[in-house]
Amino acid sequence: MKNWSEFYRPRKLSEVIGQENAIEKLENYLRNFPLKKKAVILNGPPGTGKTTLAHVLAYDMEYELYELNASDMRNKSSLNERLKPVLEQKSLFESGKVILIDEVDGISGEDRGGVTELVSLIEESEYPIICTANDAWSSKLAPLRKKCEIIEMKEISPADVKKILASIIKKENAKINAELVNRIAMKSNGDLRSAINDLESASKIGETEVVDIDERNRSVDIFKTLKHIFQDKVSENMLSAFDNVDMPLDDVLLWVEENIPRVYSGKELVRAYERLGEADLFKGRIYHQQYWRFLVYENAFLSYGISEAKGKKEKTGFYKYSKPERILKIWLNNQKHAKRKTIAGKFSASTHVGEKRIMKEWKEVRNILKNSLVQKQLKLDAEEIEYLMKY
Ligand SMILES: Nc1ncnc2c1ncn2[C@@H]1O[C@H](COP(=O)(O)OP(=O)(O)OP(=O)(O)O)[C@@H](O)[C@H]1O
Ligand SMILES: [Mg+2]
Repeated sequence: MKNWSEFYRPRKLSEVIGQENAIEKLENYLRNFPLKKKAVILNGPPGTGKTTLAHVLAYDMEYELYELNASDMRNKSSLNERLKPVLEQKSLFESGKVILIDEVDGISGEDRGGVTELVSLIEESEYPIICTANDAWSSKLAPLRKKCEIIEMKEISPADVKKILASIIKKENAKINAELVNRIAMKSNGDLRSAINDLESASKIGETEVVDIDERNRSVDIFKTLKHIFQDKVSENMLSAFDNVDMPLDDVLLWVEENIPRVYSGKELVRAYERLGEADLFKGRIYHQQYWRFLVYENAFLSYGISEAKGKKEKTGFYKYSKPERILKIWLNNQKHAKRKTIAGKFSASTHVGEKRIMKEWKEVRNILKNSLVQKQLKLDAEEIEYLMKY
């Protein structure tokens, strides 16, 4: 199945939005190679077009692009292995070559090995080298910075995000509430990939009423807190780690679920999943029995429990945390469900059939409710009736 953010990845330079400054600098670097700084780092937050720009500009200037990744930098022999074909092959059309090293933050942090390999590659290379990074200013990349010009990629402005979303909606002929699109753009924090993912989720749910998505966007805090819990040495203070994150605990659970396998592996991952399961269990009880005091347990498993799953040591290294794609989907689904609940409430009040049973036997109930006389009697409002017709 096609994924919108991949499908609508820019193929031409003119389609790369909001990065004029970076484009100019990168173009300048390629034209004038080699300059004093022999490589560049495209530096910026996720989803702002770093990988895309490298590919598109290389294509536009008719360079052949060779992509290496952080794990190729493990040691000299693995690097040489990967580089050999690049350096030896005479380009078929005598075009230039450019090497892309995507996501250099991922270079192993513990020893300096990887960064050293990369620095010597830059020193020896006859070809321009483009690196990308989310945080070029981290201390482990200091030796690399000396060799590189840093080109900052900006977060995409909400207005530009909106333009791109609008053009996708048009091409897809999708029906999405305009106000919802607005909010997705406003709250994207300049991350186009996640904005497009949200848009795709919204389109699958269909036309919905406008909803408040503010809560989902405390990403800065949640990223920091997840890193704290997943990577720092476990401590009792962690029990209150999520208190500072302005997000419902059930959303926190989704963030934890999404990111655990990116950081943990093997036995620690198994343990973490067990604890996530416990948290989920309490979440269920809170819902079904309205036992709000269980929130404490859900919270404890998600914070201390998850942290302790990795043992007593800290976890160094770089991990890429990301926003769960399911959040918007789940949450829009709940919205849908919410209408069903208000209808069930009215039905229950006049028939004395329990709400739970109505929800369970929705199909039959729905058939009854399609009768406009019944609708009148129950005083269903226009939105409820519209919902009935659709679901
Ligand atoms: N400047 C942009 N103009 C148009 N589309 C963009 C732009 N930036 C990102 N996108 C969209 O977002 C998707 C992700 O972009 P890309 O992979 O280039 O981001 P990135 O900066 O490399 O992110 P990461 O740091 O996560 O690797 C693209 O497929 C494209 O659909
Ligand atoms: Mg990228």
